[in-house]
Amino acid sequence: METFEQKLEILRQKRKEVELGGGDKKIQKQHESGKLTARERIEKLLDKGSFVEIDAFVEHRCIDFDMADTKAPGEGVVTGYGTIDGRLVFVFAQDFTVIGGSLGEMHAAKIVKIMDMAMKMGAPVIGLNDSGGARIQEGVDALKGYGEIFYRNTIASGVIPQISVILGPCAGGAVYSPALTDFIFMVNEMSKMFITGPQVIKAVTGEDVSPEDLGGALAHNTKSGVAHFMANSEEECFEQIRKLLSYLPSNNLEDPPLKESNAEGIKILPELNNVVPVDPNKPYDMKEVIKIIVDEGDFFEVQPYYAQNMITGFARINGRSVGILANQPKVLAGCLDINASDKAARFVRFCDAFNIPIITFTDTPGYLPGVAQEHGGIIRHGAKLLYAYSEATVPKITVIVRKAYGGAYIAMCSRHLGADQVFAWPTAEIAVMGPEGAANIIFRKDIEESSNPVETRKQKIEEYRDKFANPYQAAKRGYVDDVIEPAHTRVKIISALEMLVSKRETRPDKKHGNMPV
Ligand code: HXC
Repeated sequence: METFEQKLEILRQKRKEVELGGGDKKIQKQHESGKLTARERIEKLLDKGSFVEIDAFVEHRCIDFDMADTKAPGEGVVTGYGTIDGRLVFVFAQDFTVIGGSLGEMHAAKIVKIMDMAMKMGAPVIGLNDSGGARIQEGVDALKGYGEIFYRNTIASGVIPQISVILGPCAGGAVYSPALTDFIFMVNEMSKMFITGPQVIKAVTGEDVSPEDLGGALAHNTKSGVAHFMANSEEECFEQIRKLLSYLPSNNLEDPPLKESNAEGIKILPELNNVVPVDPNKPYDMKEVIKIIVDEGDFFEVQPYYAQNMITGFARINGRSVGILANQPKVLAGCLDINASDKAARFVRFCDAFNIPIITFTDTPGYLPGVAQEHGGIIRHGAKLLYAYSEATVPKITVIVRKAYGGAYIAMCSRHLGADQVFAWPTAEIAVMGPEGAANIIFRKDIEESSNPVETRKQKIEEYRDKFANPYQAAKRGYVDDVIEPAHTRVKIISALEMLVSKRETRPDKKHGNMPV
C-alpha cells in the first residue's frame, strides 16, 4: 500500500503533467509562433496569483482512431476562476498544445461547468479561444459539446457579461460560441476566425484567399463587424479586457461600478462652444465633443474600425459608467446606414441589459440613400435601432448637436422613442429634411415660375432654414426639454443622470419581442 508521502508525490506528479499541457516541444512551437500558452495567458489576464483551477484532472473518454493511446492533459482547456481589479470572473483558456485546442466532449464539459458556476455567482465569463474546432475523432460527442455551450451562451446573454478572446486559428464551432457572446477581442496577425477556411473555400468556390485576409483581426474589425476590439499584442488585448470590465456590472442585477468622483466634477466647458462649425455642411470630429465632456477625456470606443459613421463606446461622467452613441459627421456626413444601424442597435441592447445609462449625441442628415442600401435591407436593419432604443428602459439622455433630420431624428433616441431628457444645442436643426432638399420639393413651383430661379431657390432655402433649421420648433412642442449652451452640456448630463438614478420603467409581460434581426 502507498504511504501518504507516496500519494502526495503521485498527486504532485499528475498536476505537473497537466500543467505541462502538450509538452515542451509543443510549448516551444506555441512560443515560436508568437503566442503565449493557455496558462501564461490566464496569469497575465487576471490579478496576480488570483487564479484557482477547476477540473485539472478531467480526461477524454474517446477510444476511436488513435485516441485510446492519446493523452490530452487537462483535456486541452484550462478552466477556473480568479479576479480582475478584485472582482470575480470565470475564465477558460483553450490549450493549442493539446490536440490543437480541439473541443471534445469532456473539454466542453469543463467549459460548461464554469459557465454554470458563473451564472450562479453572477460573474462575467472570459473565454480565451485558440482551437481547431470540433475534435474530429470524437464525432457527434464533440458537436454535442458545442451545442451545450451555445445553449448556455444564449441563456447567459443579458445576465452576465460574456467576453471572447480569439488568440489563434479558430475554425468551425470555435467561432460560433464567441459570436453568441457580448464582445470579441482579436490580436492583429495572430487571431483568425472562419466557419470554413481558405482550403475549403478554394475547393468549393475556387476563390483564393489567405487566412489573414479571410478571417484575420483586420478583416473582422473593419469589414465583417464580427469583432469589437483589436490589439497589437496579447498583453495589450488583456489590458483592453480589464478596462472594458471596469465599466460593467458583474451581472444584470447590479449597477455598474461607481468610480470615486474625480476632481473635475461639475464644470462648464467653454471649448464646446467652438467645436461645431458655423457652416452646417462642414464636418468636424464628434469624438472631440465626447472627449471634452467625459471624465478625464477617457472614451473607450467599441468597434472603432467598423461603420465609423456611428460611434459607440463607454466612458464615465462624474464617476458613473455610461454608454455613448453618436453620429460621426466626419464619415459619410454621419448618415445612418445598414452597418451603423446594426452596430448601434447591438450596443444599445448591451447597455440596456446591464443597467448602463445611454447618452446619444445626434448630428445626422438622415439615412444613406442608394440601391445597395435598399436592397441590402436598410429598412430591416434600420428598424433594429428604432426597436433597440424603444425597448431600452435604462436612463436615456440625448443631445442634439446639429442635424437631426427625418427618420434619423427619430432613430437617434428622440423623445418619441422614450428618451428621458433631450437637450439641443442652438446649432441644432430638427426637421423632416435639410433646407436644400425641402426647398426643391415644397417650393418647386415658385422656383420654376421665377424669372430668376437660382435666386428664388436661394431665398426659399433661407426661408426654410430660418423657420425650421433650428431647435425651437421642437422645443415649443416639448420634444426637446431644453436648448442649452454647449458649454453647459456636462453639467446638464450630470444633473440628468442623478435625477434618473431611481428611474423605473416596466414593459408588458411577454416571452420576448420579435426584433427585426
Ligand atoms: C482534432 C485537430 C483539430 C481538430 C487541429 N488538430 N484541429 N485535431 N480535431 N478539429 C490537431 C492537428 O491534427 C495537430 O495535431 C494539432 O492539432 C495542431 O494543428 P496543426 O494543423 O499542426 O496547426 P496549424 O498548422 O497551426 O493549423 C491550425 C488549424 C488546422 C488551422 C486550426 O489544424 C485546421 O485546419 N484544423 C481543422 C479545422 C476544422 O476544420 N475543424 C473542424 C470544424 S467543424 P498534431 O498531433 O499533428 O500536433 C466544427 C463543427 C462544429 O467545428 C460546428 C458547430 C456549429
